[in-house]
Amino acid sequence: MHTVPLIATNVAQTFMRQFLKPRDLCIDATAGNGYDTVFLCRQVRDHGQVLAIDIQASALEATARRLDKEAIVSGFQLVQGDHSQLDSLVPEEWKERTRVICFNLGFLPRGDKKLTTQSATTIPALQSALPLLAPGGLLCVTAYPGHEEGAQETKAVDTLFSNLSGESHTVHRFSTLNTTRPAPVVYAVSRLPTNA
Ligand SMILES: C[S@@+](CC[C@H](N)C(=O)[O-])C[C@H]1O[C@@H](n2cnc3c(N)ncnc32)[C@H](O)[C@@H]1O
Repeated sequence: MHTVPLIATNVAQTFMRQFLKPRDLCIDATAGNGYDTVFLCRQVRDHGQVLAIDIQASALEATARRLDKEAIVSGFQLVQGDHSQLDSLVPEEWKERTRVICFNLGFLPRGDKKLTTQSATTIPALQSALPLLAPGGLLCVTAYPGHEEGAQETKAVDTLFSNLSGESHTVHRFSTLNTTRPAPVVYAVSRLPTNA
């Protein structure tokens, strides 16, 4: 039996949908083919903002095409960069005001598998993402332990989030247990509303 990554994407979007409303600020830290960027744009509507980041120019081109196809013409910025440099890519006024940050780790489906996210950059990126969250905001991460780099990366993400204080954040982890290959893992990290 195989668990289809699309299901993990749906789970992540189900978590994110609970947190988002029109006018929110949010970040897609791995724009890829733009599916999550389109989803976020639809939730925050015309007056919100989505900052979509990817290290590959071709991914941002694919995201731009998808937005265009979906007739989404405003409310987003596409930025080429390494998400481990999130601090310098995100406007100062977004700090502690970002409602949802999405990371869909791994490589682009049908793209170059060598251009996968790596723990060495993913962990600093997630550490930089946490202080950007508004009180009550959500960091949603989908990790893929079914390939070699993904297995290491998932372990590192698990360690990072396991050590977050329960006084500031709540961490949920969702996966499928009875599969032959390790199934994708969705982490939903919410900053407590009272943690100013
Ligand atoms: C699984 S894909 C993302 C899928 C995407 N969310 C979608 O809806 O189509 C992972 C993406 O992460 C990007 N990526 C890898 N390392 C990165 C880094 N250090 N900074 C930013 N993006 C990175 C890859 O280029 C790839 O496009």
